[in-house]
Amino acid sequence: MIILSTIAELRKAVVNAKSSKQSIGLVPTMGYLHEGHLTLAKNAREENDVVVMSIFVNPTQFGPNEDFESYPRDLERDTKLAASVGVDYIFAPSVEEMYPHDGGIYIRAGRQAQTLCGASRPSHFDGVLQVVAKLFNLVQPDRAYFGQKDAQQVAIIQTMVRDYNFPVELRVVPVVREGDGLAKSSRNVYLSSIERMQAPVIQQALQIAKLELMDSGDVDQALAQATKIIEDNTAGKIDYLSILTYPDLKEVDENSDQILLAAAVYIGKTRLIDNLILSLKGERIHA
Ligand code: PAF
Repeated sequence: MIILSTIAELRKAVVNAKSSKQSIGLVPTMGYLHEGHLTLAKNAREENDVVVMSIFVNPTQFGPNEDFESYPRDLERDTKLAASVGVDYIFAPSVEEMYPHDGGIYIRAGRQAQTLCGASRPSHFDGVLQVVAKLFNLVQPDRAYFGQKDAQQVAIIQTMVRDYNFPVELRVVPVVREGDGLAKSSRNVYLSSIERMQAPVIQQALQIAKLELMDSGDVDQALAQATKIIEDNTAGKIDYLSILTYPDLKEVDENSDQILLAAAVYIGKTRLIDNLILSLKGERIHA
């Protein structure tokens, strides 16, 4: 496995792969790899000749009071893990390498970014689109791999790919969970042992909401039950608990078929997200 830190090196590797007609799979990450990232990489390994993983803590997707500085980083550890699942190239640029120019052109996420995480992190998805668009242009992947854990991110990137005609196939990989149901996340390392015990309640609450929704079709009732589970069983603060259509992220109505149940909860200072996607074809639901 080769570690590349400049765009020039990356482009050389990409040109080599393209000239020998090799397919390229891109796994964009911010590092501090866990089983979720490795599952994306394994999928990429199975489906492509060359696998490029980017490891870049992208400053433009963090708000001023968020955890950009403290976000966990360990390139040495990541390198070993990436090699163990057959990644060919790690692209780990500096911030200056990725963003040498100031005051340039920005991409704005649209309506889908105004809800869920976008409501409390106003420019987050603009930053995600900026770095993902750059990575797509740099790597020119045949396929790019994203985790369903970031369901809103996936929906917004799908829209960018559609609206801006990026010639890439998006591959979405299911959420990878700990044994107790907690979604794997680089931020789980922030949790104290008591917080870690409370964190799986988020997924349990979403499961209860799902059952209620399938049973009664009542969105408000499903949300109320999930809220109660979180409030009764954690010291967490709910940022949002929502049920929306997927991938449009609009209010549900009786014609909705794919539905996203999504939560963001502060467990202590750590903001955790999780979701479930539900196919409701033929079921009756009401808001
Ligand atoms: O999901 C992430 O880790 C990041 O948002 C991404 C897609 C790598 C862009 O920085």
